[in-house]
Amino acid sequence: MNRKEIVVAPIVHVLGARPNFVKAAPVIGALRAAGADQAVIHTGQHYDARMSEIFFDELGLPEPDVNLGVGSGGHAEQTAALMVGLEREFTSRSPALVIVYGDVNSTIAAALVAAKLHIPVAHVEAGLRSFDMTMPEEVNRRLTDQLSDICLVTSPEGIGHLANEGVPVERAHLVGNPMIDTLLANLDSFDTAKVRAAHGLPDRYVLATMHRPANVDAPRTAAALVRHLHGVADLADLVIPVHPRGRANLLAAGLDDHDRVHVLDPLGYIDFIAAVRGAAAVVTDSGGLQEETTILGVPCLTVRPNTERPITITHGTNRLVTFEELVPAARKALESGAQAGERKPPLWDGHAGPRIAEVVMTYLGENGALG
Ligand code: UD1
Repeated sequence: MNRKEIVVAPIVHVLGARPNFVKAAPVIGALRAAGADQAVIHTGQHYDARMSEIFFDELGLPEPDVNLGVGSGGHAEQTAALMVGLEREFTSRSPALVIVYGDVNSTIAAALVAAKLHIPVAHVEAGLRSFDMTMPEEVNRRLTDQLSDICLVTSPEGIGHLANEGVPVERAHLVGNPMIDTLLANLDSFDTAKVRAAHGLPDRYVLATMHRPANVDAPRTAAALVRHLHGVADLADLVIPVHPRGRANLLAAGLDDHDRVHVLDPLGYIDFIAAVRGAAAVVTDSGGLQEETTILGVPCLTVRPNTERPITITHGTNRLVTFEELVPAARKALESGAQAGERKPPLWDGHAGPRIAEVVMTYLGENGALG
């Protein structure tokens, strides 16, 4: 573990995995502008420089006050290690509020520890539901919402999901999507030509990302996926920055045994979104990318049986596909080209961070935590 000197801070942000960093940047920035005292705990769930450090640098995130260095492991092992480290930090820091993000193991670990220590929790990206309890993320987000005093909701249907689960209505706040704040704030930095030149990519390509356990953990499933990805590469070059989770199985299945497949290491935020912006279509099982393509107007084929983000289908460019549907859907997407939806999801306007800061500062003021 490495740490800066401990400062007792009224607000503690818990960040652990790549998507957390993208969501937290505008929230931390807006709270800074509102004059809040803040500390950042990095759990170390993601630890490779390309999965973590580069995001802190590019997004202007403050250096974490402590990195717990928890690392990888099975769910129980990782969640237990997260909880032990977080309990120690929350006990020594006595925050007035813990802010957690998304649906990763660091999120539920922090919410559970804070709740047991009677520290209020704010959950950024509350209310999303896939209704698929085989996904660890669905377990994490449902339980985190039950433990949260402030549910910061990105999408209107989330308010209904929370109400159905008995979350008191006054806890839920529709604030928009901070991941889109980060996207819009960096629009001028996404240089597709530069990324193409750096990685020797052609003008026209499909960008793919695959890391869900259901798609990459079983070698047979990963091999079937690779066959379909090769089918897409028969239509257009396929660029795939490979998440460490699926790397071994996808490469063992021959992912790069195709002339038009470009296997890349994970990219930083700026290069990644630049590559997405320049893509003719996206093939993914990521959550955040469904949202980013919705705003960028890039056709998105999500290789999953469900999504916790249905608004990206009704208001965006997203479509769910099976393995078998992938190649025909890619052909159709390549033929019809980009179609920026006319309707954008409400409040995905670049101002979610300030709305979240306002809710948080009001809560702290009402609870006597502001000096
Ligand atoms: C986690 C989240 C997932 C999110 C994803 C974003 C959970 C349960 N899952 O999945 O919701 O979409 O992050 O990336 O929290 N690894 C490295 N280097 C790293 C991090 C991970 O090599 O910096 C490898 C390790 O082999 C590790 C595996 O990736 O065992 C999985 O990492 P883990 O954090 O457990 O889950 P992700 O699949 O990254």
